[in-house]
Amino acid sequence: MKEKLCVLAGPASKDLAKNVAKILNAELIDVELKIFPDGESKVRIDGDLHGKLAVIVQSTYPPVDTHLMQSLFMIGKAVKMGASVCAVIPYLAYARQDKEFLHGEAVSMELVGNLFNSSGAKNLVSVDVHSQMALSYLKIPAYNVSAVPLLANYFKSQKLAQPLAVSPDTGGAARAQEFARNIGTSSIALPKFRDRNTGEVTIDLNAPELKTAKGRDAILIDDIISTGGSIVKATEALLKAGCRKVFVACTHALLLNGALEKIMNAGASEVVATNTVPSQVSKVDVAPAICDQVSKLNE
Ligand code: R5P
Repeated sequence: MKEKLCVLAGPASKDLAKNVAKILNAELIDVELKIFPDGESKVRIDGDLHGKLAVIVQSTYPPVDTHLMQSLFMIGKAVKMGASVCAVIPYLAYARQDKEFLHGEAVSMELVGNLFNSSGAKNLVSVDVHSQMALSYLKIPAYNVSAVPLLANYFKSQKLAQPLAVSPDTGGAARAQEFARNIGTSSIALPKFRDRNTGEVTIDLNAPELKTAKGRDAILIDDIISTGGSIVKATEALLKAGCRKVFVACTHALLLNGALEKIMNAGASEVVATNTVPSQVSKVDVAPAICDQVSKLNE
């Protein structure tokens, strides 16, 4: 059933919310934010939500816990104001801690899932969630939207020599395949190893997959760039294997600890990301993909 739509611009995603409202031709409602000296957030929804479907857009990039709490405050209040709520959380924090990797570790995503389950939201839409496992902790209907076709579109207009889509790890093989399908080429996934204690990343430079990279332009595709460790190692491996150029595409560019500089210093030609996390490389707008999903939910 079609409900009257409005879009709430969460403090973390004001520009993206504006794009979403424009495509949906919906009223954009501002959310006032006050941060107290102790770090607590207070949100105030400035509009009338009664009887409407409120699409609340708020990514949970750093400061992660602050943005997460703000999203829950907005959802809870919107429900109290008489709206049914579609929570759009483009970057879903904690999705990487979707299981106990080392004995005694908390499965953070389980708690985060439960918070959204009990928030009052009718459903949740996210973009390139790290894993299916992470999504499985959401018991309210949860939808994962792919930004890969939009990222691929960006590269379609570039003049690339025998492009090759590359995932820096085997976990992202399907993503690289999707990217490759969209630009009409092939893909490989590199064998990456991460030390769970130190976080250090290694990639086998003698991996047979690297043989196909010689003389070609590689596009590394990943869901998240956090410290850049994975992309730096993958860029170095591809250039050593004889790649002509290495481009980098990712959905969520957290770019922590000087990640972008490290990636460029490793020899990458360009880094392109979406606007799920605002950054200097957020060149691709994910609003069209989010709106497709929201429109389907409101049919
Ligand atoms: C890991 O499996 C993810 O897909 C990313 O590759 C990872 O989170 C990136 O982190 P970093 O940039 O710190 O290597």
